Amino acid sequence: MTSSTEYIQYHGILLPLEAHSKESLEYAENFSVKDTDVFAVTYPKSGTIWMQEILPLVLNGGDLTPIQTIPNWDRVPWLEEKRLALVVDQLASPRALVTHFPYRLMPPSFHTSKAKVIYVMRNPKDVMVSSYFFHQMAEFLEDPGTFDEFMDKFLEGRVLFGKWTDHVKGWRDTQLGDRIMYITYEEMAKDLPAAVRRFSDFLGRNLSEEVIQKIAEHCSFKTMKTNKMSNFSLVPKEYMNHDKSPFFRKGVAGDWENHFSSEQLARFTSAIRKELEGGSFSLPWSMD
Ligand code: A3P
Repeated sequence: MTSSTEYIQYHGILLPLEAHSKESLEYAENFSVKDTDVFAVTYPKSGTIWMQEILPLVLNGGDLTPIQTIPNWDRVPWLEEKRLALVVDQLASPRALVTHFPYRLMPPSFHTSKAKVIYVMRNPKDVMVSSYFFHQMAEFLEDPGTFDEFMDKFLEGRVLFGKWTDHVKGWRDTQLGDRIMYITYEEMAKDLPAAVRRFSDFLGRNLSEEVIQKIAEHCSFKTMKTNKMSNFSLVPKEYMNHDKSPFFRKGVAGDWENHFSSEQLARFTSAIRKELEGGSFSLPWSMD
């Protein structure tokens, strides 16, 4: 098997051909969303795989079977990826899905459904650092170049799924009302049981404290890093090379401080501020 670093342009955003195709995107456009579906929505590197671990457990009351027997990409598939059409009939009910799609690309049936959404947002500085290392290990993505070069690409949106600011602005300004809840990666990292409790309430699950603690334990960075159904060790090395950088890299908030120079910080902060200027949406973190 050889991997390819080709991309497709889809409504102005870049997607790797490795996981996406014209057919998978058409499938997503025509996907029949059910009222009971639950979507975790993330800009890449904001905690997607984490949600693929948490959601099934919250929805099934803490039964570990799915996270111990089904690889994350089939357990909670991406709406836009090729795998969805292959596994859709095997998904547990209620279905859990993930997507990196901007709000404007969600399928028509999503808007008319009652499906719920958990939007996970992460400090863009940490997103960029995580993405930079991910581009080194994911052989199906182009080489990120230097950290400085990658920062320019990130700020200009010449990266997977476009500009971070467009993604968060789009998902902050929706018609979804109480169908959407917002949480940050940082809140989840600070107090995972509290985050699981919020998911349980939002999804009407009423989980006991014992189950909440059990879910938090099984979804910790340490535990997930050793779960072969979630740590991408099942993926051949020519697609993901963990020797270059492990997928479960650091799993902390604030690693950007180890990578940004003061000049880069000023450039990054000013670009993000400019993009968000005038909008009603403010960031939950200090950008300095
Ligand atoms: P780092 O590269 O900063 O370590 P995504 O799943 O959206 O691609 O995001 C990947 C990031 O989420 C990686 O960040 C990864 O380590 C982190 N992550 C995954 N599971 C986690 C967990 N249980 N706790 C904390 N961080 C986690």
